[in-house]
Amino acid sequence: MTSQTTRVRTQVGIVGAGPAGLMLSHLLSVAGIDSTVVEVRDRAGIETTIRAGILEQGTVDLMAATGVGDRVLAEGSRHDGIEIRYGAESRRIDFPSLTGRSVHLYPQHEVLKDLIAARLDRGADIRFGVTGVTLHDVTTDRPAIGFTDADGTPVELRCDVVVGCDGSQGISRPAVPDTLRTDYFRAYPFGWFGILAEAPPSSDELVYAHSERGFALISSRTPTVQRMYFQCDPREDATQWSDARIWDELQARVSGNGFSLKEGRVFQRGVIPMRSYVCSPMRHGRLFLAGDAAHTVPPTGAKGLNLAVSDVAVLSQALERFFLDGDPGLLEEYGNTASDRVWRAQHFSWWMTSMLHRDEAATDFDARRRLGELGMVTGSAAGRAFLAEAYTGWPVALTNPGSVAAEAIRLTAGRTP
Ligand code: DHB
Repeated sequence: MTSQTTRVRTQVGIVGAGPAGLMLSHLLSVAGIDSTVVEVRDRAGIETTIRAGILEQGTVDLMAATGVGDRVLAEGSRHDGIEIRYGAESRRIDFPSLTGRSVHLYPQHEVLKDLIAARLDRGADIRFGVTGVTLHDVTTDRPAIGFTDADGTPVELRCDVVVGCDGSQGISRPAVPDTLRTDYFRAYPFGWFGILAEAPPSSDELVYAHSERGFALISSRTPTVQRMYFQCDPREDATQWSDARIWDELQARVSGNGFSLKEGRVFQRGVIPMRSYVCSPMRHGRLFLAGDAAHTVPPTGAKGLNLAVSDVAVLSQALERFFLDGDPGLLEEYGNTASDRVWRAQHFSWWMTSMLHRDEAATDFDARRRLGELGMVTGSAAGRAFLAEAYTGWPVALTNPGSVAAEAIRLTAGRTP
């Protein structure tokens, strides 16, 4: 770093202003721990990029209990169930009666807007639009993040702890050396074609549809904007699809028995890849990985954002113990503690994906067996409860009883919707 380098100091340096990085910075600030967030994208880009939309009960509760839940509670819509549709019939899974919990439909970029506003309100140091981010000295007790600020100034951010929240393509994951890292990986032979359309809702609840033509998901954003997805070739070129062809494909997968989609102008489209990945360990020295930097799930079941939030709920408890009590014990255990939920979510996301998608390589036996599985899951209270428990989310580990995150989780535990 050059002599003009600006030197800055913080307790926790966070790479990435996505759900994991911003929620961590927020929880730490409530606990009185200082952090700085560096992000390569600009604020407007983060606040407008369309991602998933389902928040588990625990995610909403943690936001509400720590002062960033007003808008999700006022403007998000609570969903008490989903529909699993196959053979042109929908089977409803009712969450409250099976689990005592619900989920909220509230888009990820709205969560990010709320977190950014709350952090800036409290005077947080968030550096948007930085370039050339590098990590240094992560195996020492003074790790650093190097970057060039949006105005061109080189900066060295010295920290006690660095947390990589920069997603699956970021610099943090590869900072865990290959020789120490195990990559658990699974690719899927399909992607999701995602659209936003100007149309009224077709259903009060999300519809997860399995058909001979493949999977489709009917979700929503607002009373006038709908979000839908359908299984496609991962190399599909979304620009080659006319609106009419998109609607034909969606209708063919979901309509029947009196149900059909309300159509409208498609104003955004794109293809989303599907993969499962877990990095082990989730830590290297004083560098910790959280959210997509540590793991990726396929989108079926909407676990990605929720897993990022539960990672940082665990990590913030450990950081409170470290900074406020001088005890690194929970930090050393972070990966072990977080990975229990990570692997449950991996299983659930893989299972929902496998059960609902069409697999070109499947035999007739496999295809019929799949219908048997759908019948078991939707046709018995035990099957529905298995799905509902996972969909609404498992409890977050309480490791540091006096901490901000633990208080917030306890405050809301058992809350019925
Ligand atoms: C949405 C995305 C998902 O992957 C899912 O399982 C449910 C909803 C969405 O974008 O609305």
